[in-house]
Amino acid sequence: MIGGDTPELIEIYNRIGRGAFQLTLDGIQVAGRTLDDIQSLLDYGCGYGRVTRVFAQNLSPKNISVFDVDADASRFCAEEFGVKSLVFHEGWNWKSVGFEKYDCIWVGSVFTHLSESYTKETMELLISLLNPGGILVFTTHGEEALRRTDWPDWFGATIYNKRKQIQTNFKENNFYFLPYSSEELGILPFEFKRGADFGVTWMSESYTRNLLARLSNGRLMVREFRSAGWEGYQDAFFCQYS
Ligand SMILES: C[S@@+](CC[C@H](N)C(=O)[O-])C[C@H]1O[C@@H](n2cnc3c(N)ncnc32)[C@H](O)[C@@H]1O
Repeated sequence: MIGGDTPELIEIYNRIGRGAFQLTLDGIQVAGRTLDDIQSLLDYGCGYGRVTRVFAQNLSPKNISVFDVDADASRFCAEEFGVKSLVFHEGWNWKSVGFEKYDCIWVGSVFTHLSESYTKETMELLISLLNPGGILVFTTHGEEALRRTDWPDWFGATIYNKRKQIQTNFKENNFYFLPYSSEELGILPFEFKRGADFGVTWMSESYTRNLLARLSNGRLMVREFRSAGWEGYQDAFFCQYS
């Protein structure tokens, strides 16, 4: 997640982390809550803590849990920031993780990588983890990220070369998933056990709203949608469970 160790690249890394924290604060505020109301926060898909580190500077680490399918990432965050690490204990089975219920869940750039069925499964899980009144803030690749498929260097050559197919499919289905190749999966520092479900994903605002309504039986309200709200690039959804 960090481009290198020059002062400029470190500042970009920190800016992205601060921006994610600000989005979470905004999500809490539009839900009529304050940071003091948040007794339990889950950083879902935490990676190596780009955002967790900012959460831990602003909330008591004992109120923060982190989970990632990459168990080393989750454990790293616990060692580095004193937060609670959650990992799979049995295969890739959600029930083995030991999740609790949360007042707030942040999900940064995870739905930008999942197949349609894995998106549904993961969203269902997250909805089930919210306390009543709980807040879910997550990001997606929407219209702006789709536009950037025309930028030769943004997503890289594979996506640039497939951009017409991606754009056409997205326009037709409001969702497009391009799985990573086995070479791309091989670069990961861990085995992504559901490799066929991992790649790059674009989903429209309307697709996402419909999915949330369907999966939550209307109980998860989108309090605000911010197009390109994270770094002028990923869309942000601020939701609240009733
Ligand atoms: C682009 S990184 C973002 C990491 C972190 N949220 C951030 O913004 O720095 C995506 C992360 O999601 C994790 N991930 C992918 N699929 C996941 C899933 N279904 N459940 C939880 N984590 C997942 C990956 O291992 C990776 O660490």
